Amino acid sequence: MNKERLDKTISSQGLWSRKDAKALIRKGAVCVNGEVVKSADSYVDWDCDSVTVEGKALQLQQHVYLMLHKPKGVVSATEDREQPTVVDLVPDELKRKGLFPAGRLDKDTTGLLILTDDGEFAHDILSPKKHVQKIYLAKVDGRITDEIIEAFRTGVNVHNEYTTLPSKLTLVSSEEDGDWGRVVLREGMYHQIKRMFVSFGLHVTELHRIRMGKLDLDENLQPGQCRPLTPEEVQLLNTREEIAFEE
Ligand code: URA
Repeated sequence: MNKERLDKTISSQGLWSRKDAKALIRKGAVCVNGEVVKSADSYVDWDCDSVTVEGKALQLQQHVYLMLHKPKGVVSATEDREQPTVVDLVPDELKRKGLFPAGRLDKDTTGLLILTDDGEFAHDILSPKKHVQKIYLAKVDGRITDEIIEAFRTGVNVHNEYTTLPSKLTLVSSEEDGDWGRVVLREGMYHQIKRMFVSFGLHVTELHRIRMGKLDLDENLQPGQCRPLTPEEVQLLNTREEIAFEE
């Protein structure tokens, strides 16, 4: 059994706010198992009930998968007493019990972050063994040399603590105060990219994640905004791929 309030069930689809859902229910636009239901606080069982809104059937998904454009200044946690978290950015109509960020971006890192309530899925897209790539744009306060690119390719020894798996660094552009690089990783150790560059005396001044698996950050999402993934996007995200070093 997987029961939820009717108004919350409707708003969980991401198409209507909780207020819209209540209005639709009140005007008789919502049917549960073929019968019009007019009370928002009635419960539906997602495993066996069918719900339609204005004749269109809802996909009652057991799990939720959200794409967030993480802004600077929020922490990748479910709750924090002192600072705003990525979960605080999720509008009420998309909130679900047990929602958490699948992996962490540092407080000052921006870009693509997935929020879900599906622990197994999160493990799959984060585990280095699954080869789901994570792609970042990084600005550093100096020059990205061939030596650094080669070291990323073979594995960087980070402060004698661990050696990173092979990753691909490409020079994207050069500005007066430093270079932009594109980094492809399949793991996500603590402060990994920053620590890899520090091994070469460089500091990361901007870091932005643009892709996970084959899923790109939606350009229409402003920093701080999120939206549900479509089932096709969930598949794109969980796509295994080897890093292509020669292109
Ligand atoms: N590497 C970092 O150093 N920070 C991030 O937020 C992500 C990858």
